[in-house]
Amino acid sequence: MLSINPRIGFVGFGEVGFHMSCGLKQAGVERIFAYTRDLAGSAKSRKLRRYAQIAGVQLVPTLDELVAQSELIISAVNARGALKIAKEVAQLIGANGMFADLNNVVPAVKKEAAALIQAKGASFVDIALIEIPALVEHRALMYVSGDGAEEFCKVMSKFGMNIEVMVAEAGQAATVKALMNIYLKGMQALSIEVALSAYKASIPIGHLSLLVSRMTQNVPDEDEMAFWIGRGVLHAHRKTAEVKDIVNLMKGWGIDPLMMKATAKRLSAIAQYNLEDYIGENLHPEDSQSIFEVMDQIGRERGIGLH
Ligand SMILES: NC(=O)c1ccc[n+]([C@@H]2O[C@H](COP(=O)([O-])OP(=O)(O)OC[C@H]3O[C@@H](n4cnc5c(N)ncnc54)[C@H](OP(=O)(O)O)[C@@H]3O)[C@@H](O)[C@H]2O)c1
Repeated sequence: MLSINPRIGFVGFGEVGFHMSCGLKQAGVERIFAYTRDLAGSAKSRKLRRYAQIAGVQLVPTLDELVAQSELIISAVNARGALKIAKEVAQLIGANGMFADLNNVVPAVKKEAAALIQAKGASFVDIALIEIPALVEHRALMYVSGDGAEEFCKVMSKFGMNIEVMVAEAGQAATVKALMNIYLKGMQALSIEVALSAYKASIPIGHLSLLVSRMTQNVPDEDEMAFWIGRGVLHAHRKTAEVKDIVNLMKGWGIDPLMMKATAKRLSAIAQYNLEDYIGENLHPEDSQSIFEVMDQIGRERGIGLH
């Protein structure tokens, strides 16, 4: 059980650890500790100490000491170090402890870490950090799952943390993050491809940004993805042909249209289901769930494994 003003220990004191600590301290958390790799004497260490002082955080020299001092341990290292830290903390943590992992790792890693921590009687919180602490400190939106999620939310919301609890096992919050990343990383790659094409075609990118955002300006935010999915499904045959033409146009500009080639593949994969024939029966274009249920059904009938 966390106390009402829990002692918090960050493993890793980089961008996230620093900005979250600054906000939490200002919001009234009394004791925050941080452990990071031993850098005694180096310039990096001096910088760390300066940041710790700014944030009001006490640096501790060992992980043992961090775990001993903290009720809530937050792992903010990196994807490579996340499981190693969970294993080490599991050797040290007591049954009353709570371990929260906010690293961007795949769901299986969060599940493995949770099992190790829970085997010691401690609780585990899988944190998917959605917003950036460098912008909004500890108020960055986060999704949490795992057996410690509700208690974590109950205690830490009082300090202004913006927490959405998923009543689900560890790994589910990480799954949300992975899904978001499919979209965000895809958008990044696509934006680069559009901007590169605009540059080659001598069209200012500012014009395009405005035109693209106009497409959905009358669609409520929460319906935007369903809008694009529905339109893609309805016109998959036609759009596949159009995208193939654009692929050739881009090659003419001297661009390898990586994202557009993938788009043509995705649309033509959807087109083979002829989903437009099912509209009105049990498929409703504005309801993505109904689209994918019909795809599953067709997939089973035709023996299609991967959609
Ligand atoms: N930055 C964001 O806005 C954001 C958003 C969502 C999720 N995340 C996730 O949050 C985690 C932390 O991100 P960050 O931006 O704070 O990274 P960062 O600035 O690179 O900081 C990571 C910190 O962890 C330390 N560290 C790494 N491995 C360690 C180990 N094995 N033992 C002890 N300390 C270790 C690093 O020390 P060294 O300097 O010695 O390597 C550094 O102090 C990452 O998993 C990231 O994917 C970040």
